[in-house]
Amino acid sequence: MNDKLAGLTQTQLDAHWMPYTGNRQFKRDPRIITAADGCYYTSADGRPIFDGLSGLWTCGAGHNRKDIAKAISQQLAKLDYAPAFQFGHPSSFALAERITQLMPEGLNRVFFTNSGSDAVETSLKIARAYWRKKGLASKTKLIGRSKGYHGVNFGGVSVGGIGANRAIFGPALSTSHLPHTLLSENRFSRGQPECGAHLAEALLDIIDLHDASNIAAVIIEPMAGSAGVLPPPEGYLQRLRDICEQHQILLIFDEVITAFGRLGSATGAEIFGVVPDILNTAKQLTNGVIPMGAVVVQQEIYESFLQQGGPDYQLELPHGYTYSAHPVACAAALATLDILERDNLFKRSAELAYILEDYIHQLRNLPLIYDIRNCGLAAALTIESAPGEPLLRPFLIALKMWDKGFYIRYSGNTLQLGVPFISRSEEIDGLINALAESILEVANGQ
Ligand SMILES: Cc1ncc(COP(=O)(O)O)c(C=O)c1O
Repeated sequence: MNDKLAGLTQTQLDAHWMPYTGNRQFKRDPRIITAADGCYYTSADGRPIFDGLSGLWTCGAGHNRKDIAKAISQQLAKLDYAPAFQFGHPSSFALAERITQLMPEGLNRVFFTNSGSDAVETSLKIARAYWRKKGLASKTKLIGRSKGYHGVNFGGVSVGGIGANRAIFGPALSTSHLPHTLLSENRFSRGQPECGAHLAEALLDIIDLHDASNIAAVIIEPMAGSAGVLPPPEGYLQRLRDICEQHQILLIFDEVITAFGRLGSATGAEIFGVVPDILNTAKQLTNGVIPMGAVVVQQEIYESFLQQGGPDYQLELPHGYTYSAHPVACAAALATLDILERDNLFKRSAELAYILEDYIHQLRNLPLIYDIRNCGLAAALTIESAPGEPLLRPFLIALKMWDKGFYIRYSGNTLQLGVPFISRSEEIDGLINALAESILEVANGQ
């Protein structure tokens, strides 16, 4: 028996159409995870695997947190589900207040979703509906950014800026895109690059073309994650904020990766000192344990819906999910936020960020390295493409890492790292050493 398969048959493997996965290669050579604890997974063949991306940027507090499991099981035993529409249960209100305490001033009304993608759709719909409530119904256009990632639903794909995620799905919504901020002169920047604030001026060109009277919102990740850790250039976010303000355009920060600790604080908005009108979260909110997202809006946005809502028994926003604010997800989120606070994990993440920065930039002179970027406890490398096969080398390097006992993400021509906030510096050192070896092996054709 192949012990890599965890006892699965080929028929079982074939039955699952896996997301964002090369299904043919995977089913030929599966990478099955059977357990997790702290910073480590266990592979089906019994090896410890260091979790170099905290799941999918989800599990910063580490795996198998007993307090989260306990909160979930207590909640399950008491109230396993409550209808999300027209009725409530205590933990959603407690969680909403808790989240607002972590947000920048003014962002104090919370709408719960099931995922980051749902948070994005919700934020885009709120933005459009908001302008209607204000009597400005022509403000519908949504603006994203090249290389942006906003999940996989139609709105998110439309404002998203990663071509491969759009190409095979036919026409998306009509949107515009700002240019991305990945400038070659910023290669090997540490943290926020110096150059690039001027790229925010492209918003003025879009406004010139379409007129602000037709534009509802700009959505961006303050630090783009999925395209390979693109920190915002100095001054860039502030300039976008100013232009949005001047032209009555809502600014949405998609903080699905950056909220709750990845950048060493509760939000990127806080770290970068720029407050959006709407802020999307998910992932780290429940430490990845139960799917959940949350959209946090400025009070004025919420009030506009209430004021224009008709008789008070009438719903103000015809939008929501069967599982919005699911009691078990709320319990997981409350327990997660307790752990993040009690164990001082935002601070720990901020401290580790310096170590990750220091170690990752030591790879600079290796072959195949085109660029290295880092921001908070996140880092990425751009790998020079093999002729005609831009995606091959990151894949091969990530496979070598898996064989050496490390999980990292490969995506496009990048490799991405986002270690848990509870990592030890020796573990980061081990990860980077293994990465150096793997890169050399691939460079040498081994
Ligand atoms: C910025 C951003 N927005 C949205 C999403 C989509 O989240 P989900 O996969 O939970 O739908 C992601 C996921 O990586 C993300 O990074």
